[in-house]
Amino acid sequence: MKTLKDFVLKNKKVLLRSDINSDVLDKKVLPSERIKEAAETINYLIKNKAKVVVIAHQGNFGKEDFLSLKQHAKLLNKYTKIRFVDDIIGEKAVSSINKLRSGEAILLNNIRFIEDEMHPEKENNAITKTLSPLFDLYVNDAFSVCHRAQTSVVSFPKYLPSCAGLLLEKEIKSLEKISIKDCLYILGGAKPEENIKLLRGKKVLACGLFAQLCLVADGKDLGYQNEFLKKATLVKGNYYEFVKKLKTKLVNVETPVDFAVSFNKKRKEFDLDEFPLNYEIEDIGKKTLEKYLKIIKKAPAIYMKGPAGNTSKKEYAKGTYEILKAVSNCKGFTVIGGGHLSDAIKNSKINTKKFGHISLSGGALLNYIAGEKLPGLESLG
Ligand code: 3PG
Repeated sequence: MKTLKDFVLKNKKVLLRSDINSDVLDKKVLPSERIKEAAETINYLIKNKAKVVVIAHQGNFGKEDFLSLKQHAKLLNKYTKIRFVDDIIGEKAVSSINKLRSGEAILLNNIRFIEDEMHPEKENNAITKTLSPLFDLYVNDAFSVCHRAQTSVVSFPKYLPSCAGLLLEKEIKSLEKISIKDCLYILGGAKPEENIKLLRGKKVLACGLFAQLCLVADGKDLGYQNEFLKKATLVKGNYYEFVKKLKTKLVNVETPVDFAVSFNKKRKEFDLDEFPLNYEIEDIGKKTLEKYLKIIKKAPAIYMKGPAGNTSKKEYAKGTYEILKAVSNCKGFTVIGGGHLSDAIKNSKINTKKFGHISLSGGALLNYIAGEKLPGLESLG
């Protein structure tokens, strides 16, 4: 796979696919490690006098976090110099790209606002048709979206010389070193649909929305949370089909025995036996933590994906922080995946050096660990 070192960048128009997809709270994009790290590659390109155009996404259609990238530009400007252009493939974007000077960078708006992002196979795809002719080089710096066969991830290498960005290169080099035989999987987060790939009989500690779906699959009624899960999860296609499939895979999967909910806007814990309840679940409870920490202590190697609860609110980050602390003390190799967890490690002030590898990727890393081919990497050759 080619890297930035293989190209002369001076005066070249570079289309850079970054991943700055971040947590959103009440429509506010929270500062993230992804944003900070993405800025490193942008700075490298600026320093080398390229003309840089960044494309990226935030959230998914129909979800609350499906937002413009205007706030991201502001956050990026803490680490680099970049101007937000409120357009993607329209006249405003094209003219801004054409007017770029060497050493300047712009960020276009959320690439997922254009429907063709989801249809890379489409003939005359509006994104590639408009953008490809304007560039000299395509750089994929978004390992964390490489599991998505989406236009901005897989299509440009067909039309432009292409390579990996600094961050993508770093992730791949670290992953090549990973040895996670006899691994304990701690699977959480808000995107449960892919976790199912790792349910192959190895020990799993279920966390986050995934844990709740496991309980539902096992016949538990969580009350209000059942309805919330149907709406909140990214389970593609049929929710009921997913739960049915999950039911057949629940071998060696540990699930929570208590939960923390938002009770009069405060953290309150309830045993699983007390459900169904009319509250939204925000974290795992103390008893679950005790049970999980005992298992973590004995694990020879650990892969953790996604938080145990809602880490965007301090009072519900407890489960995630305690698990991370225990994982950081594991003697074997540990891999942490997902933007939320790298942010949580930073906020919890646990020494990052105590982990084997902290990846900014959630789903992409999981697919990699499950041995699947990642379309984004395949397309780079
Ligand atoms: C992530 O957050 O894992 C990446 O940005 C990919 O986002 P997606 O799951 O919405 O495609």
